[in-house]
Amino acid sequence: MQVRLPKNFFMGAAMSGPQTEGAYKKDHRLESFWDHWSDLSISDFYNKVGSYVGNNFYEKYEEDIKLLKSLHLDSFRTSIQWTRLMDQNQKLNPEGATFYHKVCACARDNGIELFMNLYHFDMPYYLFARGGWMNREVVEAYAVYARTAFRTFGKEIRYWFTFNEPIVEPDQEYRHGVWYPFIKDAKMGMQVQYHISLAHSLAVREFYKAKKEGYMLPDAQIGLINAFAPPYTKENPSPADLEAVRMTDGIHNRWWLDLVTSGTLPQDVLDTLEKLGLAPEMRPGDEEILKCGKTDWLGFNYYQPNRVQAPAAKTDEAGYPKFADPYIWPERKMNVYRGWEIYPKGIYDFGMKMKREYPDMKFFISENGMGVEHEDRFRDESGQIQDDYRIEFVEDHLKWVIKAVEEGANCVGYHYWGLIDNWSWANAFKNRYGFVEVDLMDNYSRKLKKSAHWIKNLIEQRDKEDM
Ligand code: BG6
Repeated sequence: MQVRLPKNFFMGAAMSGPQTEGAYKKDHRLESFWDHWSDLSISDFYNKVGSYVGNNFYEKYEEDIKLLKSLHLDSFRTSIQWTRLMDQNQKLNPEGATFYHKVCACARDNGIELFMNLYHFDMPYYLFARGGWMNREVVEAYAVYARTAFRTFGKEIRYWFTFNEPIVEPDQEYRHGVWYPFIKDAKMGMQVQYHISLAHSLAVREFYKAKKEGYMLPDAQIGLINAFAPPYTKENPSPADLEAVRMTDGIHNRWWLDLVTSGTLPQDVLDTLEKLGLAPEMRPGDEEILKCGKTDWLGFNYYQPNRVQAPAAKTDEAGYPKFADPYIWPERKMNVYRGWEIYPKGIYDFGMKMKREYPDMKFFISENGMGVEHEDRFRDESGQIQDDYRIEFVEDHLKWVIKAVEEGANCVGYHYWGLIDNWSWANAFKNRYGFVEVDLMDNYSRKLKKSAHWIKNLIEQRDKEDM
């Protein structure tokens, strides 16, 4: 199968504010959850590189946007940092706003469509110290932040997103306890997930209000981005394996899909949580808030499938009910650097699920990419990284995306994750994702990898055929 990009299909790249901007103390930016954790325990970060650096997008945004354009990409996503846009009294920080106005203007002047996300795991630390997503006041504070962003940039940005991967904080910080504050408490995890769902819904309500009041572009759209990893199990599953799939899919995927398509949460999941004592605390009036959570479209981040089977033990080490254990597929192919399975067909399976179960919801591939360690090994004599593995990865995934589109999936575009190498949470700069290399020893200078030329040619080819 040849990769021939569909017509009217956008091709761009994704990144995030906290992973790229750096300049962590400029503009009176507040301390973030990540800055606090970095200060507290820098050895938790690969090579002791904390959240402060990004890839210097703050200084290099013009160069980066021009680079994007030179590769024939038409759009890119980043995120506003809550810590940069707002002060501790929940008022606009004008210096922070100036930076994002400059980014918007630069994207506009270069003909690049800017997709703006509001939250990428990056809570201001003072709110985290008040309980973070466990605290309803933080939900309200997020709505104030979203309202401020819509009203400040409403005429400059068409595509908005409330959250990137809202499943990650409940999982990483509260259920699996692998990120600070290293909690392993399934009940707290569900409460955090529920509060993020409320925060999303309040932000969507603010978006439509701002639109109605004329603050936004008339064709502005709002969406949610998540890693809706398709769940798979064994070839001949037992009823218990299928039950593991139901709850994994329920908590990771259907929870958010139902919220953005119908403004509800899946009843079967809530019933199971209730039976097991894991149901989140809900207040009167919440149902009305959740009803506002319906969006115009959604983003699907895809890196790996989620393979599960019935749990060997009924409870986890903290005594909470367990829904699933990982299932190791004997035929799996791994990205060994990241420890993630590479399964391009998963992207197609999700497209077909959307077509079957949520036919009215438009979506795009909002992240897909391959992080590789020690890419220096692949440098040729001219100094360029020959990342054929990345080309193969993207090509294989694009083929399945195209197949899904041909078979009727309402998928309208593709964003590669990490146009330019960036800082990746606790992994810092361990695994590089970019089509473009960042040289940390040379003032963050950018150099094209082989894949950058490849993606450029691919898009150029489509554009020529379209003429
Ligand atoms: C996605 C996130 O889950 O995966 C990104 O939205 C992240 O922020 C990307 O960088 C790759 O994961 P990692 O952990 O290797 O950086």
